[in-house]
Amino acid sequence: MFKLEENVICECSKALLLALGQKDEYTQLHSERVVELSSEVGIALKFDVEQIKILRISAAFHDIGKIGIPDKVLLKSSSFNDKEWEIMKNHSINSERLVNSLHFENSNIIANAVRHHHEYYDGNGYPDKLKGEDISIYSRIISIADSYDAMSSPRPYHNKKSHSEIMKILEEENGMKYDPIIFEVFRKIIQISHYKVE
Ligand SMILES: [Fe+2]
Repeated sequence: MFKLEENVICECSKALLLALGQKDEYTQLHSERVVELSSEVGIALKFDVEQIKILRISAAFHDIGKIGIPDKVLLKSSSFNDKEWEIMKNHSINSERLVNSLHFENSNIIANAVRHHHEYYDGNGYPDKLKGEDISIYSRIISIADSYDAMSSPRPYHNKKSHSEIMKILEEENGMKYDPIIFEVFRKIIQISHYKVE
């Protein structure tokens, strides 16, 4: 296994995100924002330097598996049917495979974090229906940052939502999708975050 310097890992991350961006610019920009928002939560949780590094790389790569999703599904401008949804759900496993192929330092932790970024705290997520603290803490952080950013951006199938609209939805989902302890931290940091929307 290579032990890459942090700046090399970041350059690799950027290059792969750019590759994804050539296929789907929205996901590239979304991933960049999720890195920063997740880091703000990690800092508030007093993560050490190594944990922040793992969190940032995991957030950068969480949706990288979308590279393997056919354009007609990934770039569809309307809602998915059941079959398309099943195809889309493969992206987290694809992300795990891609990270595992890179042999980064801590790539097993990062691969696990990206695989589980769509697990729900109540066990109703995917792909493994993990529950509570069985889900990596990195995944639990990325999950909230991912949802906030996704709702704050206009998409072909939904309008951009305001901060208060997003927080109302997140509150309703708290405890089902999100870890309540991490959610409380997120609620505080988003108030002063550069990524808070109007
Ligand atoms: Fe995702």
